Amino acid sequence: MDVYKIKGGNRLQGKVRVSGAKNSAVALIPAAILADSPVTIAGLPEISDVMTLQKLVEEIGGNVEIEEGKITIDPSEIVSMPLPNGNVKKLRASSYMMGALLGKFKHAVIGLPGGCHLGPRPIDQHIKGFEALGAKVTNEHGAIYLRADELRGAKIYLDVVSVGATINIMLAAVMAKGKTVIENAAKEPEIIDVATLLSNMGANIKGAGTNVIRIEGVEKLHGTKHTIIPDRIETGTYMIMAAAIGDGITIDNVIPLHVEAVTAKLREMGVKVEVGEEQIYIPKTEKFEAVDVKTLVYPGFPTDLQQPFCVLSTQAEGSSILTDTIYPARFKQIDELRRMNADGRVEGRSAIITGPTAMQAATVRATDLRAGAALIIAGLIASGETEIQGIEHIERGYSQIIPKLKMLGADINKVEGLKTASISE
Ligand code: EPU
Repeated sequence: MDVYKIKGGNRLQGKVRVSGAKNSAVALIPAAILADSPVTIAGLPEISDVMTLQKLVEEIGGNVEIEEGKITIDPSEIVSMPLPNGNVKKLRASSYMMGALLGKFKHAVIGLPGGCHLGPRPIDQHIKGFEALGAKVTNEHGAIYLRADELRGAKIYLDVVSVGATINIMLAAVMAKGKTVIENAAKEPEIIDVATLLSNMGANIKGAGTNVIRIEGVEKLHGTKHTIIPDRIETGTYMIMAAAIGDGITIDNVIPLHVEAVTAKLREMGVKVEVGEEQIYIPKTEKFEAVDVKTLVYPGFPTDLQQPFCVLSTQAEGSSILTDTIYPARFKQIDELRRMNADGRVEGRSAIITGPTAMQAATVRATDLRAGAALIIAGLIASGETEIQGIEHIERGYSQIIPKLKMLGADINKVEGLKTASISE
């Protein structure tokens, strides 16, 4: 088993550079297959989700090259091959292959996507959108079959504000006949990033980043070059880490607007956040006030940072209530943090954490990506040596995390092939 070992207590200092956004990258790569000539995407994060998507695109005939943080996808030989099993099951974002292949070929077979276990993650809104565009959608033995004679633009009202459904419907609609309107669309920056790539490929999209997106179908899309936006969740993770154990950390390659909700919460806790044009500086914080957090769709506080924020709450004076309205069961980190001495419990869709607590090292398991980020921060502030298992989840989404943390002065190492007792559930 591969694990991370962290000797906690080192105060961190210096500069960390944020990579391109994971949740953009995993949508931009499927978007690129809609083109008829090569698409180059720069600012690519080095994460296993990107590698998995690369394999998926190659499985269907795409030619993919990755070099110096750039991916070039030549989709000219792609065929609509069924992808019922294998790599599709490894990540949530393989669902974007549904929209992309449906849009390009009018039919697709994609295994139901995997991804982090955060409680139920339905795709009914994606399917509602595909059906509105004229596709027949069936679920046969765990794979989704999509077939259409032609795709026609439609008006689609999303019952739930969904990042995935908004992007997937955009992918399917950009080459549909006529006009598509997505109402109650999600407004996350990653949606604007995907719309920007598609527009540069020749698509006609208006309103991305607002709750109404209008798409006029075009006949074909061509290759282009694009740079991925910085990862706002990685930014927020380093902001929380800087507050928890930093002696002055600059976070570089940031779009401050994208993390305003996090900045506001940190300030409410007593953390000084100095915001520049593309950098955020967080000096040492001596004392934290407990705050309540409620996760919401963008521009609200992101669910993806609720788990790391729980760790900071263990250092605050008093009780904090963290409520996740997006994924009410996204609290698997709490049991692990309790092993490290945290005073926390889950009640309904909230975690209640009381501090300040001197965290202690333990052997813990990352159950999902952001729980993993939370455990890294916990390991950095704890006394003693923490072992984190389940690191494959962390490597799905955090680019170069070990070198980045070492540069800040953390004592963290990856130990490969360790014979270690796995933790009982
Ligand atoms: N939902 C439905 N039906 C649907 C789709 C979603 O009920 O058809 C519900 C979900 O169950 C959830 C809510 O709507 O309660 C929002 O889900 P959304 O579709 O927005 O999430 P997603 O697209 O599956 C993306 C990110 C997640 C992030 C969420 C929320 C990617 C690949 N994943 O997931 O990121 O938590 O948006 O912001 O973009 C992560 O990076 O760790 C991660 C899990």
